[in-house]
Amino acid sequence: MSRLVVVSNRVGPVRESAKAGGLAVAIVDALRNEGGIWFGWSGEISPEGTHANLQTEEAGRISMVTLDMDQADYDAFYAGFSNRTLWPIFHYRLDLAEYDRETERGYWNVNERFAARLFPLLKDDDVVWVHDYHFLAMGSKLRSMGARQPIGFFLHIPFPVPEIIAALPNHGALIHAMLAYDVIGFQTKRDARAFIRYFVEEFDGVATEDGLLTVQGRTVKVGAFPIGIDAEAFRSFSVSPDAHRQGKRLKASGEDRCHVIGVDRIDYTKGLAERFHAFSRLLENYPENRNHVSLLQVAPASRGDVDAYVDIREELERITGNVNGRFSDLDWTPIRLITRPLKRRSLAGLYRASKVGLVTPLRDGMNLVAKEYVAAQAEDDPGVLVLSRFAGAAEALDAAVIVNPYDIDEAAEGIQRAVGMPLDERQDRWHRLFDKVQSEDIRAWYTSFLKALRETARRSH
Ligand code: G6P
Repeated sequence: MSRLVVVSNRVGPVRESAKAGGLAVAIVDALRNEGGIWFGWSGEISPEGTHANLQTEEAGRISMVTLDMDQADYDAFYAGFSNRTLWPIFHYRLDLAEYDRETERGYWNVNERFAARLFPLLKDDDVVWVHDYHFLAMGSKLRSMGARQPIGFFLHIPFPVPEIIAALPNHGALIHAMLAYDVIGFQTKRDARAFIRYFVEEFDGVATEDGLLTVQGRTVKVGAFPIGIDAEAFRSFSVSPDAHRQGKRLKASGEDRCHVIGVDRIDYTKGLAERFHAFSRLLENYPENRNHVSLLQVAPASRGDVDAYVDIREELERITGNVNGRFSDLDWTPIRLITRPLKRRSLAGLYRASKVGLVTPLRDGMNLVAKEYVAAQAEDDPGVLVLSRFAGAAEALDAAVIVNPYDIDEAAEGIQRAVGMPLDERQDRWHRLFDKVQSEDIRAWYTSFLKALRETARRSH
C-alpha cells in the first residue's frame, strides 16, 4: 500500500498517547495503519529556521519529520497571518482581524519553504494529506514543484460565507490556490456549501450534487468529513483510576451539589465571557440554584503572543470575581476557574462527575469537548450536553440542548433545563448523542477522507 504523508503545523506526540489530543491520536492511528511521514513545525525557533537540518524521529512505521522556523517566519506566518488574520476571519470576527502585506508574504513564503523541504521526501505513489489554515497554499506550492501525487486538504476550523471571506485582502489568490488539492474536506456541510458558494460567486464555478466542483477546467472533490474522537478509548479513560480520583474530588467539594463543566483553550471564539454571564443569569433568574449549582471552567492559556488573547484571561478572572463576590456562601463557590491544562484522564473523570457539559462557542469548527463529554457519561445516569448552535458538532449532535450563546437568557434557560432534566429524557438524549459520537468517530473520519482522496486520484490520474 502507498505511504501516507501528513502535513500539519503542530506534529506529535507519536509516543506519549496520554498527552496527545484527539487529532494526534487519529493521525498516529492512520499513519500506523498505512505507514508514512508526519511532517510539520518542530515547535522551535532557531536562527537557521526552515533552512536548518530536518529533525527525524522514528516510531515503528511512522517517521516524524520536523523543521524549525526563524523568528521572522514565526511572527509573520504563525503569530501574524495565520492567527491574527485567518483565524479571526474564518471565525467571523472581522472586528479582530488584522492584516498587513508583510505577514501575508511571510505566510506564502513559509508555505513554500515547507513545501520545498517536503518535496524531496515524497515518493511517486505517496498520498499527501495537508491540515488546517496554516497551509492553505501548501498544495499549490507542491504542484508548482512538480508533485503529481494525490493531495488532500482538511480544514479544522469553519469556512465562512463568501461575504466574510471577501474582507480578506487578496482572498482570490489564496482561496483559488486551494484548488491544487484533489479533495477539500470540511467539518460540516455548511462549511462545504460556503466554500462551493465562494467559487460559484467569485469564479463562475460549477458544482454537482455529488460534491464535484469545477472551476476554470479544474475539478476537485469538496465534502464534509466531520472529525470525531476515539469514543471507546475516551469512555475507558472515564472509568480509569485517575478519572475516578478526580471525579471523587469534584463531588467531595460539593457533596450532593450539581456540577456544570466547561473545558476550552482560552480563545475569543469560545464564548467564555458570555458563558460566565449566562451562568450568573442562571443564579439571578432561578435562585433555587444558589448554593446548589457550581460551574467548573478549565481554560488553559494559548497563543499568549497574539494581543487579542491577552485580555481574555483577565476578563474571565474579573467576571469570576464579580460573580463569586455576589453569590458565594460560606461553603459554596459559584465559579471555579482553572487556567492550567489538565490530563485527559482527569478531564474524563470530571466530565463523568458533572451533570451538565457546557460547550457554547461563538463559532467553532467542530468542538471535540462536546463529543468527549458525551463519551464520558455513565449510561444509567448521564449528564446533559448544552451546545452552541455555532459549534460544528451541533450539525450531528442535535439531541443536545441547543442554545444561541449570544442570547444570555436563552443560554441560562438551557442550563436550567439541563439541571432539572428528568432521568428518562437524559437517557434518551444521551443514547442518541452517543450513537452519533460512536458512528462518526475518529476512524470513520480518516478512513472516509482517505477513501475519497484515493478514489478521486484514481479518476484523474
Ligand atoms: C485549533 C486549530 C489547530 C491548532 C490548535 C491549537 O484547534 O485548528 O490547528 O493547532 O487550535 O492552537 P495552536 O496555535 O496552539 O497550535
